[in-house]
Parts: sequence; C-alpha cells; structure tokens
Amino acid sequence: MQRRLVNDRFLRACRREPVDATPVWFMRQAGRYMPEYRAIRAEHSLLEICKQPALAAEVTLQPVDRLGVDAAILFADILLILEPLSVGLEFAAGDGPTLRRPVAAGADVDRLPRFDVATELGYVAESVRAIVARLDGRVPLIGFAGGPFTVASYLIEGGHSAQFAATKRLMYAEPEAWHRLLSLLASLTVDYLRMQIEAGANAVQLFDSWIGVLAPEDYRRYVLPHTRSIFAALAGKGVPSVHFGTQTAGLLADMRHAGSDVIGVDWRIDLADAWDGVGADIAVQGNLDPIALLAPWPVLAEAATRVLGSAAGRRGHIFNLGHGILPQTPVPAVADLVSLVHERTAGFRPVD
Ligand code: CP3
Repeated sequence: MQRRLVNDRFLRACRREPVDATPVWFMRQAGRYMPEYRAIRAEHSLLEICKQPALAAEVTLQPVDRLGVDAAILFADILLILEPLSVGLEFAAGDGPTLRRPVAAGADVDRLPRFDVATELGYVAESVRAIVARLDGRVPLIGFAGGPFTVASYLIEGGHSAQFAATKRLMYAEPEAWHRLLSLLASLTVDYLRMQIEAGANAVQLFDSWIGVLAPEDYRRYVLPHTRSIFAALAGKGVPSVHFGTQTAGLLADMRHAGSDVIGVDWRIDLADAWDGVGADIAVQGNLDPIALLAPWPVLAEAATRVLGSAAGRRGHIFNLGHGILPQTPVPAVADLVSLVHERTAGFRPVD
C-alpha cells in the first residue's frame, strides 16, 4: 500500500508529468561527505549499518533532513546480494569491496549456492519499512540494486577493476556460463527489487555503473537481454524504474530497449545529446560532474545552469550528478545546489 506523498515531483518527473519545479536528488547522497554519517560510521561498519534497519533509516534520512532533496535512496549497497553466495564479501577500510572467493571460471558459476532472497536479504525489506515510516510521506523512497554486468564484474574480478579483463574473458571464452551467471543475477535482482517494492519503495534504480566499458554489440549480446528481463518483470508493479550507467554515450539507444522509465546519464555527454540518443518520450536523470561540487560557487552554479539549459524545460528531467557524490564534497555546496535547481525551475512551464 503506497501512502500519499507531500512531495511527489520526483515520481511525476519519472512519468513525464508536469512538475512545480525540477526534482533533484544525488546518487550516494548518504555517505562520508556528511559529518552526521561519519559519526555513525565511526561506531559501525558499513555492513552493520546496512543490516540494522534503525541505522539504515537514520542515514537514509540525513540528506533528506539536511539538503531538501526530492527523494530518499535506501541505504544499502549493490553488493549485498553477493553475500549469500558465500564468496567472502568484505568492505575493507579504504580499499573498497573485496571478495575472497571470486568466480574464476564457468564451472564456478554452477557451484554458486541457490538462496531465497526474502530469507537472506529480509533485513533490506525491514530497512525499507523503517525508512518509509520515518519519511512519513515527505518524499518518495528509491530502492535499488546493481545491474547484472556491474555485479558480475565484482563477482568475477573480486573487487573493483580498471580493465574488466577477467569479466570480459569469461564473457568471451565461456558465453554459456556467462549467460547462466547473468540469468541467475537477473532473477535474484527481480526478487530483491520486488521485495523492496512490496515493503514500500516508491521507485527503483538499477545501477549498472560500468556497462560503458563494453562495445555496443557486446552490450546487446551479453547484457541487454538480462537487463530487459529485469525491467519486464517489474513493469506491472506500478513504480517507476531508473536505469543508470556511466560512459554510456555509445549505448543509449540500446539502454532504451532495456525498458526502464528513466535513463540516468553521466557528464561525459551533453544532456541534450543524451536525450536525443534515448528518445524524446522517456525521462532522463543527470548529469552534473560530481567534481563541480568542489569548485567555487560561480563555477558550480554555471555548470548546474548549463545542465538545466540542456534539459530546456522538457518534461521528465530529474536533476542529479552523473555519478555519486565524492567524500570530499562540502555539504553547503550540495544544499546550495538543491536550492538553485528548485529556484531556477520553479513555476517553469515545461515544453513538450
Ligand atoms: O546514498 C546512497 O546513494 C545509498 C547508498 C549506496 C551505497 N552504495 C552505500 C555505500 C549506493 C546507492 C551504493 C551503490 C554502489 N555500491 C555502486 C553503484 C554506484 C556507483 O558508485 O557506481 C557500486 C559500484 C557500489 C560498490 C561499492 N560500495 C564500492 C565500489 C564501494 C567503495 C567505494 C567507496 O565509495 O568507498 C562501496 C562502499 C560504500 N557503499 C560506501 C557507501 C556509503 C562507502 C563506504 C563507507 O562508508 O565506508
């Protein structure tokens, strides 16, 4: 049962309905750049915060309270779904996530244990319920999961990668095992996102952050069918979906075929060109360079104004960064950016 929202401009923009001002939220809006997050993080590991719904709710609400953003995003991580696969997931301090037992070859795919999402990841549904209760209808909650390529890349590389060589090797050399792996991840992701929606998430975002390393034909052959199956399975759920990746200028037309309601783009392409690439009849999210938030205010304001200029008042623009907020970002710059987006677009009559 979805409760009535005081501020639903994010959901309206996802559906390309008119809005009173352009909605704005930020990927990684809860995190280390905020002193109130660091205070909790000093006492608890990342996994503890994710697994204690009261803590997850607390940090999810921090940017909503402090910045006036138009959406909350569930505090979790795209790699939580790998933990029940017994691959030795750890978030080591400073190094990012690592897996002690990555998938090295096709044969390993068939050895991965089967698990029930509601049982193993039920704590995420509890977090969603706790967040929805604490939001009390102020803004919508975005649930999320990792996209199949990006999650597979961590599973195969055992951590972050520059070249994605092991991932692509498995993809090229053992395509059947690759497709079995991506089918498995896609079906777990559908269960996981459905669970979040049933617990009260108002929208979902699929973070396929690293798909931009693929040639378009490889994206179409090795990834797109799986992503499409995820969005198709969610289509009847009544909540909008966002599909995000970085360096996707060459993939936008294909991403469109994956079937989400919104496509998220990074700053390496002008928003107007990105919109031409995906088609005028779909919503677009983005796309300020996160490093603009480290610049002096006039430079930041100009860069944000440029993004709004490229959006040109079209229906279905959701203002965001092109990737997550960096830890060294000053909080006041983020708050000022939210105000700028709202003020510049207030009462804007969208063109069609
Ligand atoms: O506010 C939010 O956006 C919600 C929380 C969120 C986290 N991770 C918490 C987190 C979200 C949406 C993610 C997504 C995520 N996680 C992605 C996709 C988005 C992207 O950045 O491309 C990826 C690739 C991951 C995997 C991951 N988790 C990495 C590579 C790292 C280490 C890098 C880093 O920023 O430290 C993490 C750790 C992580 N996940 C942190 C947070 C707040 C920082 C860790 C900490 O607090 O110690």
